[in-house]
Amino acid sequence: MSSKNSAWLKEHNTRHIMHPMQDPKALRDNLPVIIESGDGVHITDVDGRRFIDCQGGLWCVNAGYGRKEIVEAVTKQMEKLAYYSLFPGSSNAPSIELSQKLIEITAEEGMAKVSFGLGGSDAVESALKIARQYWKLEGQGEKYKFISLYNGYHGLNFGGMSACGGIAWRSSYEPLMPGFIQVEGPHLYRNPFTNDPEELAEICAQIMERQIEIQGAHTVAAIIAEPIQGAGGVIVPPASYWPRLRQIADKYNVLLIADEVITGLGRSGSLFGSRGWGVKPDIMCLAKGISSGYVPLSATLVNARVAKAWENDAGFTSVYMHGYTYSGHPVSCAAGLAAIDLVLKENLAENAHVVGDYFKQRLLELKDKHRAIGDVRGKGLMIAVELVKDRTTKEPFGPEDAFPNAISESCVNNGVMVRTIVNKLIISPPLTFTKDHVDEVVSVLDQAFTLNRW
Ligand SMILES: Cc1ncc(COP(=O)(O)O)c(C=O)c1O
Repeated sequence: MSSKNSAWLKEHNTRHIMHPMQDPKALRDNLPVIIESGDGVHITDVDGRRFIDCQGGLWCVNAGYGRKEIVEAVTKQMEKLAYYSLFPGSSNAPSIELSQKLIEITAEEGMAKVSFGLGGSDAVESALKIARQYWKLEGQGEKYKFISLYNGYHGLNFGGMSACGGIAWRSSYEPLMPGFIQVEGPHLYRNPFTNDPEELAEICAQIMERQIEIQGAHTVAAIIAEPIQGAGGVIVPPASYWPRLRQIADKYNVLLIADEVITGLGRSGSLFGSRGWGVKPDIMCLAKGISSGYVPLSATLVNARVAKAWENDAGFTSVYMHGYTYSGHPVSCAAGLAAIDLVLKENLAENAHVVGDYFKQRLLELKDKHRAIGDVRGKGLMIAVELVKDRTTKEPFGPEDAFPNAISESCVNNGVMVRTIVNKLIISPPLTFTKDHVDEVVSVLDQAFTLNRW
């Protein structure tokens, strides 16, 4: 409980915090909802208003709020040992246990080693650095380039940002890193090629191949992509695309990095997004759901092929010169162990699959009623409702249009927390969501579209 009252918090919120990804003026005009507590799939703000959290925090609170198991694991660990590092000469038990657990649950993918960080951007940065060092250790240091997809989001550190496939994330910080190239990925609702999913997957796979050939495969370190693009607008590739990426990576001897920051730990309806596509990546980036958002934690996993390169005892060149003060933080790792345990024990991936399918079906019913809904798409409990001015032309609402925010505000006023990314309503609730919660949310959305006619 904050010692400050609601008015004080609201007045001071914008005074000292640089809020991420927000126009400061818009933020001054529209105060954010200040959340004070959470239980299950609900959150409560400083004014005592209760909401269903359709965002799952920020795609991360997979096990729901107030889980005693995680709170107790964190408390016990803090009491026992608040901190010790993985830097030369020391280690700590929770990080060792968590690394073992992660390797166990990714046995199907053949993962072998883990590098810890504190968030998705760290996980991606680690993956990029591992890929570059891997090729140096293999005697092919000229393989340094990364190919990613339009609309891809890989966090906002310089490496990850350089892989991002959207100008909005990049432009204020250019020039970015050299050696990062983006190509068209399969976006079924918005692409210049075809409405046929499998044909689209093949066209985009061929674009990827051509780009590798144009760059020269001997210069390409890795392909990096999200199994389902999240921040780009929940773009679900056709089923054949990821298997094609795996084939292409093998054909041209480049690594395949799955950025599973959102899709990992159940959100997409399988334990990992790449597993949902039947694909084994070489490197996997995990964050968010790994600790259900309770404390900062991320992990970058590498398979045996990649891990082996560090076993050659090549002296200084095989030093893994990467890590943070808080890599393998014992408290974060204790939270991770407890959170993963809940995801597995409660079979939250399967629940995300079943409830996610029901959610999409209910949202498609809304699409039949409200013409501003151009598309409903998603997999598991990551879903987007895309809003358009005209269904035939698919003209999207832009940042200057008030309509999308009017819809989300109406939802918030009626007890449902949803987020808009420009013209997309993003739905990513805790994976403990039930069909009753879905019905409640859909009825509030229906009301929002009815009140704000387009
Ligand atoms: C796919 C993906 N990668 C990386 C990140 C960056 O994670 P973080 O914000 O924890 O640094 C995100 C964040 O949403 C993400 O969705």
